[in-house]
Amino acid sequence: HEIELMKHSGHINYLCHKLLEKNIRPGITTGELESIAKKFMEENGCISSTKGYEGYPGYLCISINDEVVHGIPGKRKLKNGDIVKLDISMIYKGYHSDSAATYPVGHISKEKEYLIEHTKKSLYEGIKQVKEGAKLGDIGHAIEQYAHEHHLSVVKELCGHGIGNELHEDPDVLNYGKAHTGMTLKAGMTIAIEPMLNYGERYVYMLDDDWTICTEDGSPSAHFEHTVLVTKDGYEILTGE
Ligand code: MF3
Ligand code: CO
Repeated sequence: HEIELMKHSGHINYLCHKLLEKNIRPGITTGELESIAKKFMEENGCISSTKGYEGYPGYLCISINDEVVHGIPGKRKLKNGDIVKLDISMIYKGYHSDSAATYPVGHISKEKEYLIEHTKKSLYEGIKQVKEGAKLGDIGHAIEQYAHEHHLSVVKELCGHGIGNELHEDPDVLNYGKAHTGMTLKAGMTIAIEPMLNYGERYVYMLDDDWTICTEDGSPSAHFEHTVLVTKDGYEILTGE
């Protein structure tokens, strides 16, 4: 029963991504995207997991270019050539889903395209490790190895997490690690896997707004996240198509 509710939450989350993606264009403000998301959540019986989370003011997180995560929606306009990360977390009947993706705005550079493509693929490398009996370290190792093979750096200050009645539950799901180490996954667990990869160095800092995390060298960063159910012989992506 709980997993059914998680699936529903994940599905509305997926649809919210699709709706916002259609609205991404040069000139739209991040606040306008937030309003669309807020309305969509309300119409679908969901509430934002982030609004009021430890004082976070946004209904979702919107981060641009060198901003890695936790950007606060507001008056800023998207520009041609930007990449924008939408990180959407919502609650349906007490059950959270969490999903992030990075989208191009208009025409973007080859470097940004490369970053987006391989950050997304690193998420799927991590997800492919998931099944009953696998270790948490298998996920982190697969993501890190894929990132490094593609000369991208892994942000280590932030990580994925267990998810369910709370947005952030145990365990931490790191984007780096050693295969065959760490907690053993069991069928029925639900986790959010979310690599954040930078085109330049891995180091980050926090803006004065006390939320937005940026790359120290100003290089672009990409983020992809899915909420995933562990099954006996693999996984089910709850925030996917
Ligand atoms: N969606 C974020 C995550 O992936 C939530 C960050 S909490 C916030 O875990 F308050 F910053 F929004
Ligand atoms: Co998350």
